[in-house]
Amino acid sequence: MSKRILITGGAGFIGSHVVRLFVNKYPNYTIFNLDKLTYAGNLENIKDIEQKENYTFLKGDITDPIYIQEIFQKYQFDGVIHLAAESHVDRSITNPMEFIMTNIVGTATLLNASKALWKDNFKDKLFYHVSTDEVYGSLHNDNEFFTEQTHYDPQSPYSASKASSDHFVRAYHNTYKMPVVLSNCSNNYGQNQFPEKLIPLFINNIRNNKPLPVYGKGENIRDWLYVVDHARAIDVIFHQGKLGETYNIGGHNEWTNIDLIHLLCKIMDKKLNRPEGTSQKLITYVQDRAGHDLRYAIDATKIKNKLGWEPSLQFDEGLNITVDWYLENTEWLESVTSGNYQNYYEQQYANK
Ligand code: NAD
Ligand code: TYD
Repeated sequence: MSKRILITGGAGFIGSHVVRLFVNKYPNYTIFNLDKLTYAGNLENIKDIEQKENYTFLKGDITDPIYIQEIFQKYQFDGVIHLAAESHVDRSITNPMEFIMTNIVGTATLLNASKALWKDNFKDKLFYHVSTDEVYGSLHNDNEFFTEQTHYDPQSPYSASKASSDHFVRAYHNTYKMPVVLSNCSNNYGQNQFPEKLIPLFINNIRNNKPLPVYGKGENIRDWLYVVDHARAIDVIFHQGKLGETYNIGGHNEWTNIDLIHLLCKIMDKKLNRPEGTSQKLITYVQDRAGHDLRYAIDATKIKNKLGWEPSLQFDEGLNITVDWYLENTEWLESVTSGNYQNYYEQQYANK
């Protein structure tokens, strides 16, 4: 069946993997990638598919209701996969208002435009909201996991804004019967992640012999999932998820930050032919993040039992692929760290 699907945030880290998967796997779908190209948006992430016939890039802001209404009317989307967001916890601590605008107002703007376009005829329509496990707050006991029934208890401006957007999506389902699905995923890692997040930042710093800033004692725990596995899960949920439901996505892969950093140092020493222990010397303990969540861990039983999804890669495989990618794509890293990637839109798209 042919569909016209709007993917928001498709120039970002996870969105670029979702856009690639959908454009390549579903030639009969028309994929529209809407992205504002903030600092986190990088069209170089999806260079390989930008010439495909079933792909269109739209530069725009999800918080701009007039523009959003216009594109919904013009392109008549059947489905929305909503990833656009401000996504970095540290930035949410210094600038919460931007998170409130993009994550809450932006999501509501998309919900309103979908409602206006689809009116009450929701047949074969779907609004898929991509969210995070951080909405559940912080775990303090080893035997606890986030399930779909866990109460929301967000602790940072980032997670509070995502929690709010999740509530709006469920409210539109409950009130207007809009067909929605949601997923809440654990920490992602992989190719094309902006080097402000732990894994790409540390890979880049090790490359450049720069300090590795470990927050607090490095005892915080995260559950890491390879980004391509997240994109696969989004595909499965978009096509088979039950309307109105939520699916937790995770890697069954918990690491304290410090153990993960030691592993990364070891891998990097090997790949860079440096004596073992070289990278570890770069570890620098710094002041802890304000309100730093102790532990996230997902119980992904529902998506496994109901939709048959499981992670395809072991962590050591995924981390190896990721490190190799950053070492082989130093041009990408340098374009990002120098800011040159922000000229790509002007060079390739503007005036065309
Ligand atoms: P990212 O920061 O890499 O990308 C976000 C994208 O959204 C960028 O391309 C940016 O330009 C775009 N964007 C930001 N504001 C916009 C606006 N107002 N209008 C249009 N586009 C805008 O984020 P990511 O890590 O790829 O995360 C994508 C989604 O997945 C987010 O909703 C995030 O909450 C969620 N998520 C992320 C993780 C993770 O580990 N990164 C885990 C679970 C869920
Ligand atoms: P991050 O990649 O920012 O993801 P999130 O905060 O969404 O989990 O951080 C992952 C973990 O690594 C988190 O516990 C904070 C920690 N961290 C550091 O210790 N140093 C850093 O420089 C960064 C960016 C993160």
